[in-house]
Amino acid sequence: MGAETERSAARRIQNPARSGRQGQSRQARPESLAKGKKLYGFDCAMCHGESGDGKGDMATDMKDVTDFTKPDALKNRTDGELFYIIRTGKGEMPPEGDRAKDDDIWNMVNYVRSLAKK
Ligand code: HEC
Repeated sequence: MGAETERSAARRIQNPARSGRQGQSRQARPESLAKGKKLYGFDCAMCHGESGDGKGDMATDMKDVTDFTKPDALKNRTDGELFYIIRTGKGEMPPEGDRAKDDDIWNMVNYVRSLAKK
């Protein structure tokens, strides 16, 4: 990962509200999706499900675990908002906090977007 990626990521974080593309307009690179998928398997699938359908093992007594396979689920969120939610958590969802690097979180943003059924 080059300095350029880190710099542009930092810029986006400083300005989360205007940071993201909407919807699927930009295609994520395959290596980003592969890295995102790996981390998702460790940190997210127990709630959001391997396929992203919100039916992970830990989700059974939790309501409203977001179903990423629904085409509309993340439609109104910018990438910057998703980054922020993954970093800081939301409701019953625990934060990634400092254990994930910025690039890791962007990779997961790309990956969860890729789970939406067309
Ligand atoms: C302990 C269970 C749990 C884990 C682990 C978890 N989540 Fe969540 N996640 C939730 C719940 C519950 C919600 C719904 C939160 C709400 O809306 O109050 C959610 C919501 C989300 C949303 C949508 C938020 C929105 O409002 O649009 C995203 C994106 C997300 N999670 C990504 C992730 C990623 C990426 C990981 C792994 C790093 C992860 N989650 C790990 C339970 C979890």
